Amino acid sequence: MFITFEGGEGSGKSTAIKKIKELLVKDGYDVLLTREPGGTPISEDIRNVILDKKNTAMDKRTEILLFAASRRQHLVQKIWPALKEGKIVVCDRYLDSSLAYQGGARNTKVEDVLKVNLFATENTWPDITFLFDLKPEIGLARIHKNHRVDDRLDNEKMDFHLKVRAAFLKLAKQYKNRYVVIDASKSSDEIVKEVYKIIKKKIKK
Ligand code: TYD
Repeated sequence: MFITFEGGEGSGKSTAIKKIKELLVKDGYDVLLTREPGGTPISEDIRNVILDKKNTAMDKRTEILLFAASRRQHLVQKIWPALKEGKIVVCDRYLDSSLAYQGGARNTKVEDVLKVNLFATENTWPDITFLFDLKPEIGLARIHKNHRVDDRLDNEKMDFHLKVRAAFLKLAKQYKNRYVVIDASKSSDEIVKEVYKIIKKKIKK
């Protein structure tokens, strides 16, 4: 099973994912918890180019291609092998982040971003995608409170974050079969419980 988590900045997904992994392991499942670029050296190198604050001249399509390239290498080296071994793969961000950020928010046609990503992933879709939905004002305030170091994409204007949120919600409607929208303003414990229940139900199917 391939499970992905998506959402805007400061949605709390990374913290929740760690707890969910612990629960799965406790219940005896073999789990790979990963996030793009997944610790694979080639993906890491590509990712550093994307997020480097000095690369303000980066073209929109270059960014799309680089994210897709990093994603593919991560699939080849980590995700596909783990799925083949029968593991549950839990990934913090995946293809939907490109559709929402590069497509929805940066005004490239979502279909074009999708095409590049279908080539990169050879149509590898998640079985479930949890969208941690939250007002960007709240998410960004959380980040600043936690003093996390901002990267190039965190520093975008509020309008950008609003577009990201709208794009994710549109994707959730479009891909109803795999999307679950989570109200990320709830407490972390509540969210973890809710997500875990859904995963267990899906495993038993
Ligand atoms: P990440 O380091 O995963 O941060 P977060 O803690 O917010 O999940 O992602 C860094 C930034 O990259 C984040 O602003 C989302 C953005 N991003 C894209 O724009 N497109 C993509 O395909 C992915 C995976 C991430």
